[in-house]
Amino acid sequence: MNVHIGPLTEAHAGEVMTVQRAAYLQEARRYGAWDLPPLVETLEEVRRHLADGTPALGAFDGTRLVGSVRSRVDGDRMEVARLSVAPDVQGGGVGRRLLEAISGRAPESVRVVWLFTGAESDANIRFYESAGFVRAGEHLDATGIACVTLEQKVV
Ligand SMILES: CC(C)(COP(=O)(O)OP(=O)(O)OC[C@H]1O[C@@H](n2cnc3c(N)ncnc32)[C@H](O)[C@@H]1OP(=O)(O)O)[C@@H](O)C(=O)NCCC(=O)NCCS
Repeated sequence: MNVHIGPLTEAHAGEVMTVQRAAYLQEARRYGAWDLPPLVETLEEVRRHLADGTPALGAFDGTRLVGSVRSRVDGDRMEVARLSVAPDVQGGGVGRRLLEAISGRAPESVRVVWLFTGAESDANIRFYESAGFVRAGEHLDATGIACVTLEQKVV
């Protein structure tokens, strides 16, 4: 597979939603929570986020979108959000490449890149720790699921 990473625009919103929903179904199954924000986000919300100018990247195998990631920037902090890899492509290094690429696109002002994942999602936590993120805290999300925040300083 010859995957390349490139910017996403609002024209990719439909494909982004498809990959995101397929990817996050496994998280929904783990928590028995079918209303996770990445699963209930509407096409219009995805489109608006992709149009807002914050870094958003796709992984493309030819013309097929196989992964995506978006971000939110607030002062000196950038949140990495909605990291998703198509189920049939997971485990092949695409997630790692997207994570590194989005961190590398952080605006100059950003000092810390952060994200959160489910506290029971051991593989995800290992994945982020092996990429250099460290645990920074825990919280309950809006649906009562325990989450772990991880962050990385921008050098
Ligand atoms: C989490 C996710 C984005 C990782 O993407 P990926 O392409 O599968 O990950 P990679 O192949 O780049 O994995 C990098 C490393 O993490 C490990 N890893 C990643 N996800 C794993 C999983 N679910 N189970 C076991 N190991 C996993 C890989 O084995 C690999 O380790 P290595 O570098 O030592 O070989 C992807 O599994 C996904 O879309 N999951 C569903 C949605 C989700 O949970 N998103 C993140 C929410 S915070």
